[in-house]
Amino acid sequence: MRIDVFTLFPEVFEPYLNLSILARARERGLLDVHLYNIRDWTTDKHRTVDDEPYGGGGGMVMKPEPIFAAVEDVLGRPPRAPVILMTPQGRPFTQEVAWQLSRLPRIALIAGRYEGLDERVREHLVTDELSIGDYVLTGGELPALVVIDAVTRLLPGVLGDPDAPLKDSFSQGLLEHPHYTRPAVFRGWSVPEVLRSGDHARIARWRREQSLRRTWERRPDLLARAPLTPEDRAYLATLGWRERSKPASSASDAEAPESSTN
Ligand code: ADE
Repeated sequence: MRIDVFTLFPEVFEPYLNLSILARARERGLLDVHLYNIRDWTTDKHRTVDDEPYGGGGGMVMKPEPIFAAVEDVLGRPPRAPVILMTPQGRPFTQEVAWQLSRLPRIALIAGRYEGLDERVREHLVTDELSIGDYVLTGGELPALVVIDAVTRLLPGVLGDPDAPLKDSFSQGLLEHPHYTRPAVFRGWSVPEVLRSGDHARIARWRREQSLRRTWERRPDLLARAPLTPEDRAYLATLGWRERSKPASSASDAEAPESSTN
C-alpha cells in the first residue's frame, strides 16, 4: 500500500515510521510511505504557507495554493487516490475505517496546522475527513501517524500471525480478553487456573466471557452493535445486561449517537 503524506513537518514522521513493525513493513515493501513538505510548493521568497483570515479574528489560515499544487503534482489532477484530511471535524476514525482503508492500494493524508485550512481545500480537493477523537491537537501529524499505524498492521503479511488483527479489540465488535505470561505467580498474584488447564474449549469459553464482561463494564455502547450468540446473551444476562441496557456505573452512554466536535 502506498501512503502519501502532505505536511509542514515531515521530520515528525520518520522516527516513528522507522521503528519496529512499521519499519519492517517498509523494508519488505508492504508499506510505501512518501512524505511531502507543503512548503516546497510555495512560490514566494518567504515560502509562505499561511495568511490572515478573511473577516478578521485571531489565528492564521493555511493558504490553498501550495496544498492544491502539492497534492495535484503528486497525485494528478484530479487526484488518482482518496485525499483524506486529518481534522477534529472529520468522521470518527475507527477499526472499521482502518479495515476499509487497508484494502485500498493508495491513499493521501493531509496534516493541517495553524487555526485551520482554507475551506476550498475541503470543498474541492479533499475526498474524506477523519478525526481520531473528540479533542483538538496542534496539528494533523499525530492523527496521520495514528491512521498509518492502525492501517499498516492490517495489511496482509505485516503481522506474524495473520489472524492477530481479527482478535484485536473492536475487530469482533468487543474489547479483547486479558492476557497473561510467565511467571504463573507474581508477587502472590496468580494467573487464572483455567489458562493453565490445557483445556482449549474451556479457555476459549473463558476468554469469550472475559471479553463480553469487559465490554459490558467499559464500553456497553459497543454491545448494542456487536454480533452476539445466544450463549453470549445468556452470559451477559447473568451480569445484569439486557438488550439496550446500561451497567450501574459507566462513563459511556449506550444511547448517545456517535458525535464529532466543532
Ligand atoms: N487535528 C487536530 N486535532 C485532530 C483530531 N482530533 N483528529 C484529527 N485531526 C486533528
